[in-house]
Parts: sequence; C-alpha cells; structure tokens
Amino acid sequence: MHNGKARAFTNIALIKYWGKKDQQLILPMNNSLSLTLDAFYTETSVSFSKDYTKDTFYLDGQLQDEKATQKVRHFLDLARNQAGIFKYATVCSQNFVPTAAGLASSASGLAALAGACNNALKLDLSPKELSRLARKGSGSACRSIYGGFVEWEKGNSDQTSFAVPIASNHWEDELAMIFILINDKTKEVPSRNGMQRTVDTSSYYDSWVKSADLDIKKAKDAITKNDFHALGKVTESNCLKMHATTLAASPPFTYWSPGSLKAMNKVQAMRQAGQNCYFTMDAGPNVKVLCRKKEVEDIYHELQKDFPAEQLVIAYAGKGIESLEMEVAK
Ligand code: ADP
Ligand code: DP6
Ligand code: CO
Repeated sequence: MHNGKARAFTNIALIKYWGKKDQQLILPMNNSLSLTLDAFYTETSVSFSKDYTKDTFYLDGQLQDEKATQKVRHFLDLARNQAGIFKYATVCSQNFVPTAAGLASSASGLAALAGACNNALKLDLSPKELSRLARKGSGSACRSIYGGFVEWEKGNSDQTSFAVPIASNHWEDELAMIFILINDKTKEVPSRNGMQRTVDTSSYYDSWVKSADLDIKKAKDAITKNDFHALGKVTESNCLKMHATTLAASPPFTYWSPGSLKAMNKVQAMRQAGQNCYFTMDAGPNVKVLCRKKEVEDIYHELQKDFPAEQLVIAYAGKGIESLEMEVAK
C-alpha cells in the first residue's frame, strides 16, 4: 500500500492562460500570471494497492461516474509511469471550492492530486518537477504549487513548461480578492473545450496571443514597483480580451451572464466614484475583484449594496501546496 495526501489552494490568473499549442502535454500558447488564494482549496488523498482491481474516485464523499473517473485515471497513469509502479488507486478528494464553476477547481484539484501522488509513490519531485506533473493534469494547476504571485513559463517542451514564483517582497500580503458568486453550478463549456474552440476558430485568437507578452511584462513591472493601479488595469484589460476571443469563436459563446455584467459595471462605477478596485473573470460567470487589503472592508460594504453577503467571499494571498498526514483506518 502506498498512501499520500496533499492540500493545494486555487489560483486566479491576472494574465490568463487561454489556449494550448500542445493538447497532450498541455503546453500553453502564452505565459500566464496568477495569485494563489487562501479561501478556496482541495484536499486529496490517494492509495495505490495491489489489492485494488480498478481505479476509484470519490469527490466530496460521492463515488464518481466513469467519465469523471476516466480524467483522474489519465492523471494516475502519468504518475504511475513516472514511478514505475503499476497498481490501481483509490482517490478521495474534498473540494473546498465549487467544482467546475469557473472558480479554479481544476487548479487546486489537480495540484492536490499531483502532490498526493508524489507523496504516495515517493516520487520525491522538486517543486519544478511537481509543477510539470500538475500541468499535465490541468494547465492552471501548475501554478498552484506556489503561493503568492506565480508565473507559468510557457516553454516549448514537457521539460521547459512550468510555473515559478515571482519575487514581490510580500506585496501580495497587502492585496485581497473579493469573489462575487453569480452562479456556482457546473458550467456548460468546460475550460478545456472553451479554450480549444477558441484556438481553432476565433478570428481574434492571434491578437490575443500577440498581446499576451506585453501584458505579462506590464503585470510583472507593476508587481516589482508595487503599483496597484498598473496591476489592476492590465488585469482587467487582459480579462476583457480573453472573453472577447470567445465571442469571435465559431460557434460563438460567452461565460458572461447578466449577473456578471452587473458585477463588472458595479466595479467600474465604484472606480469612477474613487474606490480602488478592478475585476477579472475566468471560464465561468463569477466575478473576482482585486483590491488592497486596507480598503477591502469599504469595497465589500459597497458591493453588499448590490449583492447579498452569501454571494460575496473575501480571499487573501494563499500558500503553496502542502503535504498532509494520511489518516489510516485501523
Ligand atoms: P474550473 O473553473 O473549476 O477549474 P474546469 O472546467 O477547468 O473548471 O475543470 C473542472 C474539472 O476539473 C472537473 O470536471 C474535474 O475533471 C476536475 N476537478 C475538479 N476538482 C477536482 C478534484 N478535486 N480532483 C480531481 N479532479 C478535479
Ligand atoms: C480562464 O487550467 O482549467 O481559468 O488546462 O484544459 O485543464 P485545462 O484548463 P484550465 O484553464 C484555465 C483557464 C482560465 C485562465 C487561467 O487560469 O489562466
Ligand atoms: Co480549470
């Protein structure tokens, strides 16, 4: 029996990953840059045993169907091949984040699974190697290996595509992100399908890729200078560009709902009224508001005028992946 357990936090990209140049290896078209958060995370344990006759996957206590198990099995195969250990596994995962709702469950989920496999199979991976393994489960997961600001360097091969932490002098500890939950149910277009349709058909896709390098540079400069407005501006414009590519896809689609627009308009109106906040959105209708910790209460208070407290979650910068002790049944 080989047992391992890990906890990984979600991360939200300020400069987005949106499109693969290699779907098998999950190599992205452009670098991305994220902030790991403390409010949402996944805990996953895995055991490999010669006594198991198949792979089994429990999520939030529920035995998962063949389709969901198949995705996990694909990842387990990568880990088994890397370890040279070919035993079936039982995976038990708990998402402290809504699953598949555009709140980055695949980032925390696949990072935690990678960490659990690393521990169980004694792969003894360095953070860089763990980031590479997690990347092959879900691209955004490679960034959840680290806390704070993280950049995913796109690279051009399995070996050269991984995330690295960005030196920031702990500036992330002065920031906050308020989640405006518009809908936390499973989205219709999974990130994987949405980005592939965009790469294959969107007439705006080339411009997206071309503008990504400059956005990364602007975001990194802003982090170096601790320039909140510069970071906020590039975050918001990068998000709008990403979502524009989906409208130009064929067939066209959008992750926006009326509630998302209401939230985005609210953030822009608050900014016009002098409050310091910027939004971003991922592959789902929920809106995330970047602000400074010292202003988070004022901004939360203003948002509460339009959104009930149940729809608002405050997050701060989170930690990198952690190993956990596995409770072994006696
Ligand atoms: P999200 O916006 O939540 O990241 P995605 O469409 O990118 O949505 O990914 C959702 C998929 O990620 C799920 O359908 C599932 O395959 C996978 N996933 C989410 N959480 C876990 C978990 N805890 N363990 C394994 N896989 C997970
Ligand atoms: C919009 O990492 O979920 O959140 O690699 O296919 O699993 P796969 O996709 P995923 O895509 C994330 C897309 C995004 C932007 C981002 O997190 O960078
Ligand atoms: Co995802």
